[in-house]
Amino acid sequence: MSRSAAPPAVRAVKVAPSILSADFANLEREVREVLDGGADLLHLDVMDGHFVPNITFGPPVVKSLRRATDAVLDCHLMISEPSRYVEAFARAGADWISVHVEAPDDLSATLGAIRAAGARPGLVLNPDTPLERIRPWLDRVDLVLVMSVFPGFGGQAFMPEVLGKVRALKAEGYAGEVSIDGGIDARTAPGAVQAGADILVAGTAVFGAADRAAAIRGLRQPAA
Ligand code: DX5
Ligand code: ZN
Repeated sequence: MSRSAAPPAVRAVKVAPSILSADFANLEREVREVLDGGADLLHLDVMDGHFVPNITFGPPVVKSLRRATDAVLDCHLMISEPSRYVEAFARAGADWISVHVEAPDDLSATLGAIRAAGARPGLVLNPDTPLERIRPWLDRVDLVLVMSVFPGFGGQAFMPEVLGKVRALKAEGYAGEVSIDGGIDARTAPGAVQAGADILVAGTAVFGAADRAAAIRGLRQPAA
């Protein structure tokens, strides 16, 4: 191919490393490495030990990361009653705040509170939750996060059956970002991209790799 040839018309997918699989004792170094390695944003998994059977971190860690980077901080709240906390996450510096449609709470008030606090609201749905559950809210959210594992832990196997939801959102003309989260690696990424995902969230595949930049490239442009 000559150097002046137009690049192939491929849609650029964004890669969002999930810090769940990072070394928390060296978090600043870890996020710098993935951002220098081509990551487009950072995915922050917040778990409360109640909505999911695992506990991670809260606003103080988001606040520290906000001081360390200008990168978009995408907070995935796996917590019950998110309305009680969304303002604190926004104040800590979260850019996007996504809440589960399955979480017990007043969803309308929660989405309103996220927007009012200056962050972009997103909605997350578990692998066994049908798209119908989020349809009434689609015009109020900038991001839909489709879970391709049951939330709570990194390193689980990708569930290809959720790709139909990604395809349907795109086919219906949903204008926001569609993100997919769980079990994404160089082997599963192509199917997600083909289905129309705008953002690939990946924990183990990025932070578990010795060469994080190569892992990110491998997700964006999987080997043919
Ligand atoms: C799961 C989290 C994911 C997780 C993905 O509850 O929402 O973001 O970190 O991890 P991997 O990529 O290892 O499946
Ligand atoms: Zn997540």
